[in-house]
Amino acid sequence: MIDLRSDTVTRPSAAMLQAMTAAEVGDDVFGEDPTVRKLEETVAGLLGKEAALFVPTGTMGNQLAVRAHTNPGDEVIVGRSCHVFNYESGAASALSGVQLHPVERPDGFMDADLVRDAIRHGYYWETPTRLICLENTVNKTGGRIVPPELTSAIKLVADEHGLAMHLDGARLWNAAVASDTPPQTLAAPFASVNVCLSKGLGAPLGSVLAGSRSFIQRAHRFRKMYGGGMRQVGVVAAAGLFALEHNIDRLDDDHANARLLAEGICESRGVAIDPDTVDTNIVMFGVPKNKALELVAALDAEGVRVVPFGPSTIRATTHLDVNQHEVERAAEVISKTVAAFA
Ligand SMILES: Cc1ncc(COP(=O)(O)O)c(C=O)c1O
Repeated sequence: MIDLRSDTVTRPSAAMLQAMTAAEVGDDVFGEDPTVRKLEETVAGLLGKEAALFVPTGTMGNQLAVRAHTNPGDEVIVGRSCHVFNYESGAASALSGVQLHPVERPDGFMDADLVRDAIRHGYYWETPTRLICLENTVNKTGGRIVPPELTSAIKLVADEHGLAMHLDGARLWNAAVASDTPPQTLAAPFASVNVCLSKGLGAPLGSVLAGSRSFIQRAHRFRKMYGGGMRQVGVVAAAGLFALEHNIDRLDDDHANARLLAEGICESRGVAIDPDTVDTNIVMFGVPKNKALELVAALDAEGVRVVPFGPSTIRATTHLDVNQHEVERAAEVISKTVAAFA
């Protein structure tokens, strides 16, 4: 089976497991796990922030950020395609009591004009705007890298209005490698950044939320409230440290494989994709109208796993557990199977 459903399907390598078993641990609720401390300091350093907090999932990292930046009744401007709005089970409204205000251009990015128009004016009957959330890379639009000039322009608007910015950087590592930009530079405009260790980097779980020391102190309290206080979790933090050391540079291979897949299917009957839009490790392609679900089942029967992302859209994601040969084989199978449905 060639599993391209997500970059989260990877299994820890033997070397990663060895690092995990060798980890020095302590009770992290007492602040006594040296491996967790090391991971938090490492990520804070990589992102150019004062402090960081280890959390089990990207969803928890994002939701702690929303909670720590806002008060119930506030409004958060988000990308219409973003994970915080679409795939976190309504957590922002349920746990933080905030209202999400989605905006987006037809190309899937947010821009300064959209954000400016979405900011409330301060009348007491309005919902006060408090936070702007961006995602980089943007998963739902096919792993696109947010153009830095868009982020800079949004940051100017945020500063004009005294608003904080949070970045869902679940795949910030992919954006950094593909654009040859230090993660710190991509993180600089944001008051807080969440990065995942369990996606392209191949750790079994774990994300890290970074920001100022006072912001992380506040998020730490909410992590406990959300049930995220963990004990000898250095065992898992060790996998994260291993992933940061060994699995960032190799993301270039995943990006090359994604491009290969897009090029391999783009000319096929029934497939809609422009390989030039494949910036990183996600290949989002159109299929004949309303056929995504049936096609996913047909591809599964042929040994290729992908996921539907809408009635006529499928997502395939490359990662460290698929090689070039498997990606070439997947391209053949997808081309043949989609053509049969066209
Ligand atoms: C862009 C993005 N943000 C956040 C998350 C949430 O991560 P988790 O599944 O660890 O909660 C995901 C998960 O796929 C994601 O793709």
